[in-house]
Amino acid sequence: MPEFGAACRGEFLLDPAIAHLNHGSFGATPRAVMDAAEGWRRRMETDTTGFVRGVWPAAVAAARNALAGFVNADPDGFVLVENATQGANAVLRSLEFAPGDEIVFTAHGYRAVTRTIEHVCRTTGAVPIVAEMPAAKIDDDFVLETVGRRIGPRTRLIVVDHITSPTALVLPVARLVTLARERGVPILIDGAHAPGQIDLDVAALDADFYVGNAHKWLFACKGAAFLSVAPRWRARIHPGTISHGYGKGLAAEFDWVGTRDVGAWLSLPDALAFGQRHGWAAIRAHNNALCAHAASVLMSAYGMSASGPAPMRAHLAAVALPLEGPADEPRALALYDALFARHRVRAPVMAFDGRLWVRVSAQIYNDRGQYERLAAVDWSAL
Ligand SMILES: Cc1ncc(COP(=O)(O)O)c(C=O)c1O
Repeated sequence: MPEFGAACRGEFLLDPAIAHLNHGSFGATPRAVMDAAEGWRRRMETDTTGFVRGVWPAAVAAARNALAGFVNADPDGFVLVENATQGANAVLRSLEFAPGDEIVFTAHGYRAVTRTIEHVCRTTGAVPIVAEMPAAKIDDDFVLETVGRRIGPRTRLIVVDHITSPTALVLPVARLVTLARERGVPILIDGAHAPGQIDLDVAALDADFYVGNAHKWLFACKGAAFLSVAPRWRARIHPGTISHGYGKGLAAEFDWVGTRDVGAWLSLPDALAFGQRHGWAAIRAHNNALCAHAASVLMSAYGMSASGPAPMRAHLAAVALPLEGPADEPRALALYDALFARHRVRAPVMAFDGRLWVRVSAQIYNDRGQYERLAAVDWSAL
């Protein structure tokens, strides 16, 4: 069994001088997967035309099916996209909204997706309806209640994160899908952080739309993500870029959106093999335990709480900072930069609920000492 922590750090390209506690934002790709991606790029360059015509269709279908199998999604409604933002855009910009229709989302939503909702509302006359959920009060029932209260007769779509970005919480998405179904409203789950971090079963969730990243917690190269679409919507969803496959079905439309890099998608089987080699259950157990340790070390060092209750956390934790004064984005960014400049620790600082928070990730290359380094930081001196 391969070891975790510093022992496996060499499998990644990470700078050893940096405590990389931000796997959540952009992942970290193992060398083996980078090499596999580069192998596909080089193979393409030996005969680009032959590759596009003769190799690409079967290779992309194999990569797509491998990822669909891993997250247990119906391969017929499953397509690769470059990132979760692109997948969410495809859904939000394909659906039709009339003036006065409502799109319900939560205050914990990822900013880029929230901006997309705002854009769609601006261009269609639909109304964005935000469910505020204070981090201090949150639990599964509270999420259900709060989102439920925002659903009305004009609600045409609910958008919720599977694992929230600023607050690092696993939301009760199975119950939210049931709620949406009962209220007759389609639901889009933004699972950018879910694949790899939790044991994901897309078919069992049965949401109308599910987007997920492979380049965060599945060890894939940047540019590997998916969109899963329930049968009733498949003819109505199109990629943001319309290309040759238009009208020929989801796979034809999404598989080719113009000439692009082939490495990230085609090396997906290698990313899955990397996780398999370490053992997905072992990875999850290691990361969950390390994250719980990190949260408790930071909470006791800072004398502050983490967002939400412990059972809502997986490999990410957001802990409030012991700082008074403005809790806004410029200050959060300044602290983020100062933390790196002074301590060589990468961990995002976020403003949420009138407080500043630091968010840590736990991945196999992390170890306890790295969180202790963060716990020792005097934030008021940054
Ligand atoms: C909930 C959520 N959705 C979407 C994204 C965007 O992911 P990407 O940049 O891969 O599109 C993130 C990134 O952190 C996220 O946390």
